[in-house]
Amino acid sequence: MLVSAKEMLTKAKAGKYAVGQFNINNLEWTKAILQTAEELKSPVILGVSEGAGKYMCGYTTVVGMVNGMINELGITVPVALHLDHGSYEGAKKCIEAGFSSIMFDGSHYPIEENIEKTKELVGICNERGLSIEAEVGAIGGEEDGVIGGGEVADPNECKMIADLGVTMLAAGIGNIHGKYPANWAGLRFDVLDEIQKLTGAMPLVLHGGTGIPADMIKKAISLGVSKINVNTECQLAFAAATRRYIEAGKDLEGKGFDPRKLLADGTAAIKATVKEKMELFGSVGKA
Ligand code: 13P
Repeated sequence: MLVSAKEMLTKAKAGKYAVGQFNINNLEWTKAILQTAEELKSPVILGVSEGAGKYMCGYTTVVGMVNGMINELGITVPVALHLDHGSYEGAKKCIEAGFSSIMFDGSHYPIEENIEKTKELVGICNERGLSIEAEVGAIGGEEDGVIGGGEVADPNECKMIADLGVTMLAAGIGNIHGKYPANWAGLRFDVLDEIQKLTGAMPLVLHGGTGIPADMIKKAISLGVSKINVNTECQLAFAAATRRYIEAGKDLEGKGFDPRKLLADGTAAIKATVKEKMELFGSVGKA
């Protein structure tokens, strides 16, 4: 059964570790992430961007697939199905479709409008027992058409949004979706610290988990980050393993062209990436 992310993140914040949000794209992704979470006894959040939701034939298809897999694979660890960088309309659709958690990304609106829309969605989510993530300070880079300027959040605005009763808060602190450029300045820990001092028990979310060095991840967790989003790194691992399989000519041997064989190495590579992240984030054994 899908659960809200509230309890797992409250525990993570208190226990000084983070729960990974891994974005899904298809059946292989979802299976790899759920199996790894179960093997490692880790709570997990499955992230679905609006683009990925469309690709997978809509939110109700995603809910059906994830619920089916939780049953058929005997998954016992807490799993939240979460809309990633949702629009106001997308958030409402996911609530109706049976997601257990949503992100409303109002970071591109003026703060007054972000507050107004977030507030309305907080009310709906509270009524239905869903968790809700809000964002202040757009995350840099591009993810599925959502483009952010890489702003650094204003801690006072973070406090205003946190006070609306959201479950978790994403704040831009110099993090970027996708690969980091060689001249990246790193995370603004001074700003993160200010935000955590103002928002207290609120679990903070670090987007753009791909390519952030381990020491920065650990420091971010020590400063109140309890949810870390990873997307691109699983895609890169999957693509590299699939490339190796094809370049080795394995698709031409016997029934190597069978999609269940063709996609097996890539799927194993996603599992290895998820395992590495769960170990780094400290969520292993916390389910
Ligand atoms: P990456 O693709 O950089 O890992 O970012 C994922 C993310 O933040 C999803 O919202």
